[in-house]
Amino acid sequence: MSSTLFRTKKVEQSILDTEEPEHALRKSLSALDLTVFGVGVIIGTGIFVLTGTVAKNNAGPAVALAFVAAGVACALAALCYAEFASTVPVAGSAYTFAYASLGELPAWIIGWDLVLEFALGTAVVAVGWSGYIQSLMDNAGWELPAALGSREGADGFGFDILAAALVLVLTAILVIGMKLSARITSVVVAIKVAVVLTVIIAGAFFIEGKNYDPFIPKAQAVEAGDSLQAPLIQLMFGWAPSNFGVMGIFTAASVVFFAFIGFDVVATAAEETRNPQRDMPRGILGSLIICTTLYVLVSIVVTGMQNYSRLSVDAPLADAFKETGHPWFAGFISFGAAVGLTTVCMILLLGQTRVFFAMSRDGLLPRFFSHVHPRFKTPHRPTILLGVIIAIVAGFTPLTELAALVNIGTLFAFVVVAIGVIILRRTRPDLHRSFRTPWVPVIPILSVCASLWLMINLPAETWLRFAVWMAAGFVVYFLYGRSHSRLARRRGETAPGDAAPPQGRDA
Ligand code: ALA
Repeated sequence: MSSTLFRTKKVEQSILDTEEPEHALRKSLSALDLTVFGVGVIIGTGIFVLTGTVAKNNAGPAVALAFVAAGVACALAALCYAEFASTVPVAGSAYTFAYASLGELPAWIIGWDLVLEFALGTAVVAVGWSGYIQSLMDNAGWELPAALGSREGADGFGFDILAAALVLVLTAILVIGMKLSARITSVVVAIKVAVVLTVIIAGAFFIEGKNYDPFIPKAQAVEAGDSLQAPLIQLMFGWAPSNFGVMGIFTAASVVFFAFIGFDVVATAAEETRNPQRDMPRGILGSLIICTTLYVLVSIVVTGMQNYSRLSVDAPLADAFKETGHPWFAGFISFGAAVGLTTVCMILLLGQTRVFFAMSRDGLLPRFFSHVHPRFKTPHRPTILLGVIIAIVAGFTPLTELAALVNIGTLFAFVVVAIGVIILRRTRPDLHRSFRTPWVPVIPILSVCASLWLMINLPAETWLRFAVWMAAGFVVYFLYGRSHSRLARRRGETAPGDAAPPQGRDA
């Protein structure tokens, strides 16, 4: 039984599957498109919202160091993703990589886990977007009925109509096609980057040195409260929960990690890339470097403009400008954030549909979902199904605390990908790798350690939710995926094309 759970799908087979006309996606993306995609999905709620929260609650001006720490962890993971994406240029990202290296059950687990990153991430950002739009509407004197706007204002029943509408509109755009999506994305990304650069350049004129003193505020003990809300590491070692100080920087890093989510999504578009061997690593690493630089600069500027204890938690960048008496800048920043969050949502949704598509093409989910649209060449069925479900989730659920679940899901995927790089180097040394992760196994091992470190800095209750979700995944696999796996059927039938010499553990 264990041999079937860990049966691996040959890399060649994965690539071959993408060439079946019925299941083939159009190859239209360049390195620039990928970088734009990357920046489009990376810069979002993390920098526009979380910077203020973590500076105020966990790190003070040292939030800039938290961004550096999270950026380093992501860079290590990015080096692993780049090798995989250039070697296995197939839709599905970490799921596909795991199938090729670790086996079917780990691949399923990762695919299931990625729902946390992509689907839940889409919903979280859609709700954040709705908040920005409502704040802009407030400025103009328009207000939605409480039951259709913020859930807190609603008496008993609330449906965030704007968040749900955004997800449905993006679903329609994705069904029509990647190229259209990429065009829209580039315009939006240009606006978003312009806003971020405005914050950095204009904000630099309002920095006051005294706001950096102290740069790392002294650690402050916090009320123990509900122990499940303390970071797991503090419970593991029996530490008194505290904010600020050096540990506060790491707590902050595990939260602002959300701001980096998305560079790995670039890998999900590998199959739609014209020259994935060359362009994948460029797109992944390029977008990550651009965003890390912008984040560190933005957080230095914002904490220099306003004392960290007075930063706003809803719209810290815009409000810092209001505070210095420049409401015009604040309006422009809110507008840019609202526009910018749309691409984050769209690309996270895109990532989710591609992983679902890849899993259904492999038979682990119903094959009905792996047919591409005859005209648009997009996986329209999973896109519509997921779009509707996510719209409902975004409409009904208060998701703020679930953002940590998005982080843990993503970090877990990073761990699996890094381990996968080491394993695939051993089981398939013959594969052509146009990008090779340097210093294997040192970099992948460091990547695993860095991701685990951020994971244990997340609250214990996030771990609990994560465990429940993953347990549900096991049940679904054993009830459906295991028996419907296309790989299992191939192995049973040994069709002519499939009778290749055994490679790796179980191919
Ligand atoms: N990195 C994305 C954001 O910050 C998910 O919104």
